[in-house]
Amino acid sequence: MMGLWLLLLLHLHLGNAPRTEDVCVSLPAPSSISISSFNMEHTLSFLPGPGTPPETHFTVQIIHHRKNSWRPVTGCLELRAGQTCNLTRVFKDLYDHYRARVQAYTPTQTSNWTLSAWFLPLSDTVLGPPDVTVSGCGNCLTVQLRVPTKELPQNLQLKDLYKRIIFRVQRTRDGAQFTLTLDYEEENVITYLQSGVEYCVSVSATGSVSSNPVYSKPYCAFTSPPSTKSSCTLYVVLGLAGVFCMLGFLIIGLLIYGGQMSLKLPIHLTRRLSYILIQGQKRGSTRPELSGPFSASQLHETGSASCLLTAHSPVEAVNSSEVEEEDCGLVPN
Ligand SMILES: *[C@@H]1O[C@H](CO)[C@@H](O)[C@H](O)[C@H]1NC(C)=O
Ligand SMILES: *[C@@H]1O[C@H](CO)[C@@H](O)[C@H](O)[C@H]1NC(C)=O
Repeated sequence: MMGLWLLLLLHLHLGNAPRTEDVCVSLPAPSSISISSFNMEHTLSFLPGPGTPPETHFTVQIIHHRKNSWRPVTGCLELRAGQTCNLTRVFKDLYDHYRARVQAYTPTQTSNWTLSAWFLPLSDTVLGPPDVTVSGCGNCLTVQLRVPTKELPQNLQLKDLYKRIIFRVQRTRDGAQFTLTLDYEEENVITYLQSGVEYCVSVSATGSVSSNPVYSKPYCAFTSPPSTKSSCTLYVVLGLAGVFCMLGFLIIGLLIYGGQMSLKLPIHLTRRLSYILIQGQKRGSTRPELSGPFSASQLHETGSASCLLTAHSPVEAVNSSEVEEEDCGLVPN
């Protein structure tokens, strides 16, 4: 009796699912099914089989390793050709293996299912490079890394997946480069560099399973001498103090020297001026105006210009009366 009821129920159930009975399997199956994953966001993409009619829809189902039954993916039941299916929410367990399949359908036809490869979220996701800040610290570079905050299932954060960081360091001047692999830390110091030289750093992250490295763009900085803010201001203060000291000495020196100078001024000044004037004449340049008043006074003191002709006979080219008069002042009487 129970067996009969079950048969009846089964019949009714099948009757309500027209696709399995009435729809014929004649559409081309989708192709190129792949699941790509970046920073734990999983996306399924596929291509319609050749000759697929334009009004065709596609549906996606998933299965995971531990439960052996296919189930439909909400939001991916009526896809169009070219659309993708977001599997982030359905691949909940990072440590499980998943598989997806896609079927094309129209109201009257379906295709066979096409299967994806097995997918393990933890190892198949590609970790993007973290945000990078580089600054100099003498003969080293400080590299700050920051992984975007992102909640994952199972109480994990995205940054919990970052295990190792590869640093690619390149000297800007000649392009010489090396790579360095360190455990993931937010603050890293790359040592043994030349100081005062520019380097560029690209980083790449790997999780527990290494994948193809995706490098960040290069971030460049000079390895400047170590200068924290406090020592910097100290240098400035010391420097200013030094400058003021020197200025003080200079002024005192000038005052003392000036005091001595004022006694010797006439003889020093005239000797100097005459030298300038003779040099000026020899080079054929114009004579400085400054000489005027001094020469006039000298003329009065020496009285005559004729003494010059004997005193400085070799300088025959000098025919200016003013120069002669000045030189006269130097001639010992
Ligand atoms: C669907 O699969 C069956 C068996 O795997 C095959 O015989 C049939 O040709 C396939 N149909 C299409 C439309 O590819
Ligand atoms: C996929 O779904 C996740 C979780 O709902 C969401 O954070 C992410 O932005 C979605 N990705 C795309 C490409 O829509």
